[in-house]
Amino acid sequence: MSIAFPLHRNESPLPDGDREAILAAPGFGQYFTDHMASAVWTADSGWHDGKVTALAPIPLHPAAAVLHYAQEIFEGLKAFRHADGSVWLFRPDLNARRFVHSARRLALPVLEEEAFIASIEALVRADESWVPAHDGRTSLYIRPFMFGSEAFLGVRPAAQVSYYVIASPAASYFSGGAAGVTLWVSSTYTRAAEGGTGRAKCGGNYAASLAAQVEAHDNGCQQVLYLSEPGRGYLEESGTMNLFLVTADRELITPGLGTILDGVTRASVLKLAAEHDLKAVERQIGIDELRERCAAGSISEMFAAGTAAVITPILAIKGEGFEQVVGDGEPGSSTLAIREHIVGIQSGRLADSHHWLHRV
Ligand code: COI
Repeated sequence: MSIAFPLHRNESPLPDGDREAILAAPGFGQYFTDHMASAVWTADSGWHDGKVTALAPIPLHPAAAVLHYAQEIFEGLKAFRHADGSVWLFRPDLNARRFVHSARRLALPVLEEEAFIASIEALVRADESWVPAHDGRTSLYIRPFMFGSEAFLGVRPAAQVSYYVIASPAASYFSGGAAGVTLWVSSTYTRAAEGGTGRAKCGGNYAASLAAQVEAHDNGCQQVLYLSEPGRGYLEESGTMNLFLVTADRELITPGLGTILDGVTRASVLKLAAEHDLKAVERQIGIDELRERCAAGSISEMFAAGTAAVITPILAIKGEGFEQVVGDGEPGSSTLAIREHIVGIQSGRLADSHHWLHRV
């Protein structure tokens, strides 16, 4: 039987004026809505105690498994307001399925797709006034997460697990918006290894990425381009985004799945490729091939795709002793067209011919 998420109304929501000021310039991940959805799983009773309550700090025992062994997974998806005021989620079924995959990898209990989507709908309905206006620029970013909350210091899967969903109004993930980023090819760090957690959306992957992120910033880059080995090997992903290359002969190449995240935006871009006269190809791409083909002009565009970052042009890559501009160093025309296509479907301006939208 699926778990329900009844609303316990927040008696002291933010005044309308304060909320409107935040919605006018939300940034990314800085402000949170009035409520949160939650549920608890125990080995004895399964999932129970589903509810939507006022957003509040989470009481946690200092011995909770997540604080010691990082038994945690999360998701990211968005709700969009259409011109008629209605609110829609973009492909929540794919997030639900990935959450199940991540849970299995981190030895957490499975939350069924129906319950996952019900928890998100319940929160978005409670905080509907937090979904930004229809402007093609802003949305409500939704963050479901699950962690081992049992107080126990032995290393084994927690017998008590907590699930929460919070939400945050969002504009562009990068302060420069769609203008584009330069990626840092680290010679020190990798993101994932065969058999590891690279394909799971778990907090540990992001914790391990922070030192590389600092290295990227120190070298004037906004994000990392992870390779299969430090400084060499094959392209993986960018830590918060999947990678795509556009070739002069109209191939759209992206690294195949394995140790990278199975991105929802990635899957959507692959599906839309043919509508942009591009042949979608999933294969390994070596860093040497990338550098040589960029230098020769046979790779003309590069972009990154993710829920938070949508489609972000990659204008150059940099590493120890080299810097390579992609194309003419400006956002490419296919990149911008694919971005417009995805944002258009999400915001209801373009037909949802693939049936990706889910009405709340
Ligand atoms: C997302 O795009 O939803 C992500 O999870 C990236 C992020 C960690 C901000």
